Amino acid sequence: MKIFLDTAEVAEIRKYAAWGIVDGVTTNPTLIAKSGRVFEEVVEEICGLVDGPVSAEVTALDAESMVRQGLALSGIHKNVVVKVPLIPEGLKATKELTRRRIRTNVTLCFSVTQALLAAKAGASMVSPFVGRLDDVGVDGMALIGDILTAFRHYDYGTEVLVASVRTLEHATQSALLGAHIATLPPKILDLMVGHHLTDKGLAQFLKDWESRAKAPAIPSYVVGPASAARSG
Ligand code: E4P
Repeated sequence: MKIFLDTAEVAEIRKYAAWGIVDGVTTNPTLIAKSGRVFEEVVEEICGLVDGPVSAEVTALDAESMVRQGLALSGIHKNVVVKVPLIPEGLKATKELTRRRIRTNVTLCFSVTQALLAAKAGASMVSPFVGRLDDVGVDGMALIGDILTAFRHYDYGTEVLVASVRTLEHATQSALLGAHIATLPPKILDLMVGHHLTDKGLAQFLKDWESRAKAPAIPSYVVGPASAARSG
């Protein structure tokens, strides 16, 4: 499973990219606004930090303007993936951007039928939002399983990108279901790497290491002549 970072904070991206496990980054208008940075500038900086797809979202609502924005965004860096909302105009824009060989991430997906339409329009990735489904009492991870099952019957080449991840369990289930990608807020990566038994085990190893048998100090008659030769 590829791991994307779900943030537009460059300090966080730099920190987790150094772990060597970040395959890409997703942003959205909310995350860009939260960063307090100019959209194009922050996207360019992120592309310099992670060698993988970086999703940047269009904000237009008609296909023609979406394509125009998408072309501008993809001009920022070869790794930019144009993020398009899952609405009819978004499908049209996806089809056109795909025709122009520009990769797309069709976002705000909440059903199997929406995912199917995104795939048919040529989306490189489709982003079902699991956390937001959970919020309204629908099992978000069940949707991931259903989309993966449906996609197995066909050959669309669209990757399922698990988005709106809120819990460690979302990340675990994404991997168990075989999702292609999960985009994770930094705090979920911290939860993924941590385990109290790792901390306990490491503390014990270090304590035991301190109590090991140690080689005797080098006798002074060995050190003596050598240091005498050096000084003389
Ligand atoms: C990523 O592509 C999505 O925009 C993001 O995961 C949405 O997360 P949220 O539901 O926590 O805002």
